[in-house]
Amino acid sequence: MTAIWFVGCGNMAGAMVEGWRKSGFDFSNAVAIRPSGTPVEGVRTVAALPEGPAPRLVVLGFKPQKLNEVAPELRARLGPETIVISLLAGAEAKSLRGRFPEVRAIIRAMPNLPVSERMGVTALYSEDANEDLRTEVGDWIGLLGLAHWCETQAEFGAIGSVAGSGPAFVARFIAALAKAGEGLGLEGDFSLDLTLRTVAGTAAMAQSRCEDMASIARRVASPRGTTEAGLSVLDGEDALQGLLARTLEASQRRGRELAEAARAIDSPPSVA
Ligand SMILES: NC(=O)c1ccc[n+]([C@@H]2O[C@H](COP(=O)([O-])OP(=O)(O)OC[C@H]3O[C@@H](n4cnc5c(N)ncnc54)[C@H](OP(=O)(O)O)[C@@H]3O)[C@@H](O)[C@H]2O)c1
Repeated sequence: MTAIWFVGCGNMAGAMVEGWRKSGFDFSNAVAIRPSGTPVEGVRTVAALPEGPAPRLVVLGFKPQKLNEVAPELRARLGPETIVISLLAGAEAKSLRGRFPEVRAIIRAMPNLPVSERMGVTALYSEDANEDLRTEVGDWIGLLGLAHWCETQAEFGAIGSVAGSGPAFVARFIAALAKAGEGLGLEGDFSLDLTLRTVAGTAAMAQSRCEDMASIARRVASPRGTTEAGLSVLDGEDALQGLLARTLEASQRRGRELAEAARAIDSPPSVA
């Protein structure tokens, strides 16, 4: 049985565990490590790295800022057959390899929260995983939705901004539409329910019909009608498109800053 360690299992790794549990995955030989000891449902949870043999799989689920604190002790507990799957935004493959030089492979994974519903998107990137390992890890993460192997870290970063951060952006859009509905006199919870159903229904329809977004908008909006009047606000001066372009630029910029911070330890200050 594969031994799996989840080192840090909060929002994101916890959402993945939830999705895997829904898929029926067997976690009897897995352990979640959380300093607080807060239990993770379905997985034995401990507050410190367990004793015993090195795990086969390690999922890094702590915040990128904790990497320098966690890596030295963890490195000593891993073996040459261990596969490290890092969820850490911004920490590049080479930075991770620098911290865990002896392990078999380093894989970056950028999931999004809907993995808990097995409707997630996970970008994957590795510089040292062979084809068999890519297939194995892709199949495992594919239990949570789409698992996409990226050719470059730039592609990985772009998917992280669109899909990894995406649920937060979509949540803001849904809240804003619902609040605008309240402004028209709808009761708050009801307006949110209508909005959620509209967003989920539109996405499901687009996927099932393979229909592009412009065509959906055209089918709703009659010339000189009510929807067209609303769209003129969203489309005017590129309002929505410009807003989202700036949103993703900010996310990418922060990714570069985190990568820079993670690289910092790769060249420790000289002690000459
Ligand atoms: N949230 C997202 O949508 C998302 C998407 C893609 C990638 N990520 C990545 O996922 C990672 C975790 O994010 P999150 O949102 O899940 O954060 P989170 O909810 O704050 O979870 C962080 C986890 O790290 C644990 N932790 C803290 N210090 C630790 C230590 N010294 N050793 C081991 N574990 C430690 C925490 O333990 P306690 O539970 O005991 O506090 C917690 O379980 C980040 O690197 C982030 O970049 C997040």
